[in-house]
Amino acid sequence: MKAISIRLRLTAWYVAVLLASLTLFGVAAFLAMRRGIEKSVDESLQGQAAGVEEVMGRVLQEDPARLQDELREHQELREQADFLQVCDQNGRWIYRSRLMTHYEVPVPVKASSSAYGVMSVDLPLRVLVREMSASGATYRIQVATPMDDFYDAIDHFKWMLLLLGPVLLVLASAGGYWLSGRALAPVDKITRAAHEINSNSLAKRLDVPRSGDELQRLSQTLNQMLDRLEVSFNRITQFTADASHELRTPLALMRTTTEVSLRTSQSIADYREAQEEILAELEKTSSLIEKLMLLARADAGVETMQRASVNVAECLRDACEDGKVLAEAKQVKFLENIGAQKILIEGDSNALHRLFLVLIDNAVKYTPIGGSVSVRLTQTNGSGVAEFRDTGIGISADDLPHIFDRFYRADKARSREFGGVGLGLSIARWVAEAHRGTIEVQSTPGTGSVFRVHLPLLKS
Ligand SMILES: Nc1ncnc2c1ncn2[C@@H]1O[C@H](COP(=O)(O)OP(=O)(O)OP(=O)(O)O)[C@@H](O)[C@H]1O
Ligand SMILES: [Mg+2]
Repeated sequence: MKAISIRLRLTAWYVAVLLASLTLFGVAAFLAMRRGIEKSVDESLQGQAAGVEEVMGRVLQEDPARLQDELREHQELREQADFLQVCDQNGRWIYRSRLMTHYEVPVPVKASSSAYGVMSVDLPLRVLVREMSASGATYRIQVATPMDDFYDAIDHFKWMLLLLGPVLLVLASAGGYWLSGRALAPVDKITRAAHEINSNSLAKRLDVPRSGDELQRLSQTLNQMLDRLEVSFNRITQFTADASHELRTPLALMRTTTEVSLRTSQSIADYREAQEEILAELEKTSSLIEKLMLLARADAGVETMQRASVNVAECLRDACEDGKVLAEAKQVKFLENIGAQKILIEGDSNALHRLFLVLIDNAVKYTPIGGSVSVRLTQTNGSGVAEFRDTGIGISADDLPHIFDRFYRADKARSREFGGVGLGLSIARWVAEAHRGTIEVQSTPGTGSVFRVHLPLLKS
């Protein structure tokens, strides 16, 4: 089905609503007009009938023989509306006006004070029939008003509505179409502008009309969305560039080592030395690729945590076992203060182990020989807090806001020498946030750093 533009749809709705209102108005006006006319005619008929009744009542008492003459006189006083006939209960005419005779209005069948009816002889007549009893006899009085003029007027009105309605409708739809076009023109403008924005021009923004209406809000919202997209897009581009760069360095190193070894190695021992160098680089590269894949999967939302109840104390103790080995190799003192209590949280023990190891690895890595690293676990209002304190090189205030960024290293040369690529803390933060936790850091250059991980406890 072909999509219909909003403009056409708006116009169609507008026309439909207008059509319904016009129809409703026309029918109501028509009925009200007819009812109004009939009401005033009926009132006048009632008046006439009452007048006749009064005359008849009087005459029948005083002199019944003069009834016909009295009725004629009474009727002749009326200038128009010569529509009166009176008969007795046997249908015998007592009086019949000239016009009643002319149109041969029949004898009434039954009578009541509210029996109005339209009778179409040659002329549409609205007739009121009344019954009156006097001196032992019953009479039926019929008064009538010709309705032809009224019906002509109503008819005229009806035709005016029927002809004027469509004209009005056509004019209104044209107006509606024009108006909706005008109202939607800014949307078209936004569409054209949005159409021109692509990955190469993500910095472009839509013009925001200062109209304070929905369109201003729409453009602002789209611009905010573009802001977020631009940030994510730049981050991804940067991530890809950094990742390729980090992968190129060890590859170049391995290539050079291999070439040099092939050209210059004389003995098995020489080859062996080269192979060992290459193996070390390969291990670093594998670890880098593993971190990259983890972050990429996390970004894509594929890497999900296994949710289970985990004892943080046990998990941290495991990580400390690995930490002790690292610390020993680096000749750094390692202190562990975890305690025997169970601290339960909901989470993934592998991911938490990775998070703790990143922080222990950093603490050991950035602490010179002879320094110390201490790990502590406490529990404060609703959270387990793991603290990693070192007496290392510290982080400057300038670097502090960035250390959780991907590939960010405070001192590139130094960090690389330690084998770091700047992904550890990004992964740590992702794990903490996936557990609804936080990481905070305090550091003084030259004195040391403290990292604290807060993890919300399992609600029992
Ligand atoms: N305990 C610490 N003491 C001093 N500097 C630190 C410490 N922890 C992190 N940093 C600084 O923050 C940077 C980012 O740390 P991160 O763990 O993300 O990367 P990395 O250790 O360089 O590499 P890797 O991806 O191998 O962990 C480090 O390069 C370092 O400059
Ligand atoms: Mg690290």
